[in-house]
Amino acid sequence: MSISKPPRSFFKPLAIGAPAPFRELPTRVERMIHFVPPHIEKVRAKSGDIAKQADVVLANLEDAIPSDAKEAARAGALDMAENIDFSSTGTGFWARVNCLNSPWFLDDVTELVTKAGNKLDVIMLPKVEGPWDIHYADQLIAQLEAKASIKRPIMLHAILETAEGVQNVEQICLASPRMHGISLGPADLAASRAMKTTRVGGGHPFYKVIEDPRSDDAPRAAAQQDLWHYTVSKMVDACCTAGIKPFYGPFADIADVEACEQQFRNAFLMGCAGTWSLHPKQIDIAKRVFSPDVDEVLFAKKILAAMPDGTGVHMIDGKMQDDATWKQAKVMVDLARQVAE
Ligand code: GLV
Ligand code: MG
Repeated sequence: MSISKPPRSFFKPLAIGAPAPFRELPTRVERMIHFVPPHIEKVRAKSGDIAKQADVVLANLEDAIPSDAKEAARAGALDMAENIDFSSTGTGFWARVNCLNSPWFLDDVTELVTKAGNKLDVIMLPKVEGPWDIHYADQLIAQLEAKASIKRPIMLHAILETAEGVQNVEQICLASPRMHGISLGPADLAASRAMKTTRVGGGHPFYKVIEDPRSDDAPRAAAQQDLWHYTVSKMVDACCTAGIKPFYGPFADIADVEACEQQFRNAFLMGCAGTWSLHPKQIDIAKRVFSPDVDEVLFAKKILAAMPDGTGVHMIDGKMQDDATWKQAKVMVDLARQVAE
């Protein structure tokens, strides 16, 4: 039996602490990862149309799929891989498998890679706690890819949703060249940290900037704070260091489109490349939010035009520009170009 052998370096996990190899940041536009429960035939039937609107469609096999529907969900994911034309619209096809210590993980990965490996772009791994989880999944996928002669490597995307995972996020990001990115998982993370909230993503009306009741001249600020600011910042820094992409996660209050948009916007401003969508109306919100603002892009273009070699100092509309703002402008203009392509 001949076994196709992918380049060895691809599968060799990096030593912890080793610098990430130079590579281009992944450039595919992935403003939203749209979640589909593949065991529900009615929803699955609509996912061909969803694939024409969303940047990424994900078959969800983990939480929200009841344990007695796990096998039906896996079969539904294989059905989606076979029957939906993702390639003509350039839509990504991902699957979220069950977590490593569940009774379903091994069969999820084995079946997906061997039966749908040439269609699957990314496997999303939940509840990743350290680089050891990525090393294990990486080696397992490598073996299955070789056995099934899969033509291109399947990438890995970890969900950051335990306190231990947050502690280890830098090593997780660097654990394998197979790493595509990381998503924040605010529901599991809240539980893991014993945060006193039943919300999934977004703010909380009780979590406010603290004002000092004793001081008369202190500004009275009673605005809500973002509960996820620390974790999103830490995740963005870890991802950018490793050259992979950070994502916000779920926002479960589907009816509250305003709060959803605000949370997505904060994540976009802080450096996230995209988010999850749990309902078709969140696809439109994510598209709007994770595409750069037209006025900002026009201003960024002025900066690039004023400094063709990216150096020096210039005043534009009364604002000082230099080498650093040139780099900021390039981020915006590059993203605008990718979205337009
Ligand atoms: C997502 O999986 C979450 O736990 O928020
Ligand atoms: Mg979760």
